Amino acid sequence: MSIRVRSKCLFPALLLAGAPWLSACGGGGATAEAAVTPVEETPVEEVPPVEEPPPVVDSPLDTQLAGLAAQAGAAPMAAPVAQDPDLVALGQALFFDRVLSGNRDISCYTCHDVDFGTGDGLSVSIGTGGFGKGADRVVDRGRLIARNAPSLLRIAGQPTMFWDSRVLRRPDGTLGTPSAVLNGPTPTAATIASRLGSALAAQALFPLLSHDEMRGQPGENELADAPTDLEAWARVMRRLVGTDDGAEPGIAGYRQLFALAFPEVVRWSDYDVGHVAQAIAAFEVAAFDTRGAPFDAFLAGTRAAMTDAEKRGGVLFFGRAGCAACHRGPALTDGQHHAIGVPQVGPGHDFALEDTGRAFVTGDPADVYRFRTPGLRNVALTGPWMHDGAYTTLGAAIRHYRNPRQSLFAYDARQLAPALRTLVDTDPLRQDARARAIDARVRGGVRLDDAEVADLEAFLGSLTDAAAVDLSAAEPETVPSGLPIDDA
Ligand code: HEC
Ligand code: HEC
Repeated sequence: MSIRVRSKCLFPALLLAGAPWLSACGGGGATAEAAVTPVEETPVEEVPPVEEPPPVVDSPLDTQLAGLAAQAGAAPMAAPVAQDPDLVALGQALFFDRVLSGNRDISCYTCHDVDFGTGDGLSVSIGTGGFGKGADRVVDRGRLIARNAPSLLRIAGQPTMFWDSRVLRRPDGTLGTPSAVLNGPTPTAATIASRLGSALAAQALFPLLSHDEMRGQPGENELADAPTDLEAWARVMRRLVGTDDGAEPGIAGYRQLFALAFPEVVRWSDYDVGHVAQAIAAFEVAAFDTRGAPFDAFLAGTRAAMTDAEKRGGVLFFGRAGCAACHRGPALTDGQHHAIGVPQVGPGHDFALEDTGRAFVTGDPADVYRFRTPGLRNVALTGPWMHDGAYTTLGAAIRHYRNPRQSLFAYDARQLAPALRTLVDTDPLRQDARARAIDARVRGGVRLDDAEVADLEAFLGSLTDAAAVDLSAAEPETVPSGLPIDDA
């Protein structure tokens, strides 16, 4: 991080040499100027116009924001570990290829679209059988998914996966996942588990198992009909690389990409879905590494990178509005789970119109309606917001915190896509339970006038890296299966 010298004379000698009348410290006043101005009587009209150099002294607002941000552990994101290009190339192909889905009609990219901030622009996702791209995707013959597709723009190093953290990798290397064969110190699928070096890699195995997301319904295809998780993953591998005896040929392009990425593997039958997971994770880390937001530049000392509105919003965020109680650290998340009273939108997760979040994983009543605090980097690009996309503008997500209880009960479903408006839970008992679960830190609400909401929104905008706005370079022209990447 560059250290800023606050006191004197940062301007390079060449500038001073060319303009000896310049105040040496930019912010210096008339006295300083007078002291260095040569005595020759230069007529005022002949003085060439001089651009004001940027101020080198932090304004009170800068000092306040820098101090509060530091208290909240806000810092530039760490650079992710460099990835092997051959592994990334394989992962890219897999991420965009519908051949990983039972009915060959949906890929990771369908719901994590590079044109929608690596989400899909929908409140809740639409799985296999759906049709169309991003926010225009329709259910068609498919099903709604219970939750909003999170952005992958801040995924490297994230310790847990999913809104309820149901996939995680502990510091001792053991996994916690919905598939028992991967879990614990001596997992049944030890070979696969040994390849899952991060929660991110482990996560990639689960969309493949979800009947509604990628696998398809029983009777539709051989992946959907597989009797076990392990058999479903094995059948994915046979599609990709085939069998040793050639009875299943696999796909030539994948045989080549796998062989390049894993030169140590000898037989096609030695590949397993752990290799797929490794490659997809490598691609996600490499492709979605965005760390150059104006807020990062501010933290590194370039105070002018942020506007005053953004800075005022930051002071509110880390200060009086109390956001940093949960949104802290470099990614602006504490990695914990909290209930904040988000309205229930969509088909429901635990059962129809209900999603108890973390409690469904832990069984702990204290976890009811808790969801993992999302990181907020690039958050302006990743709407709709919250675990079920209940808020379709960032302003609405911020205004929720004015009075979470009221926001829950007076939820305006008109902001949703028409197909979802009837899928808002208003059951009085469950609504009451959602309200009672609201975390004490947000329950009382934060007084925010409209200008303050706008400032907070401006601050959240300063977390956007320009590189995240156009991610089209991550998208390949074609994939090895030859299947289309988008619906026609
Ligand atoms: C049908 C849409 C859909 C498809 C296809 C899909 N995802 Fe997702 N993804 C989601 C949704 C929805 C969630 C959140 C689910 C939850 O929290 O319960 C999610 C969560 C994730 C997460 C966790 C992010 C976080 O912050 O916790 C990652 C990583 C991810 N998906 C990657 C992938 C990969 C890799 C694939 C392909 C193998 C894939 N997804 C396929 C919709 C989809
Ligand atoms: C008690 C902890 C807590 C506090 C305090 C808090 N948040 Fe959150 N925030 C969360 C959790 C948890 C979620 C996800 C909730 C869900 O989806 O059910 C969230 C979600 C969000 C989202 C949506 C992000 C996305 O990707 O969908 C935004 C924006 C946000 N918070 C901004 C703020 C702002 C601004 C403040 C201060 C006014 C604030 N938060 C205070 C815990 C907190």
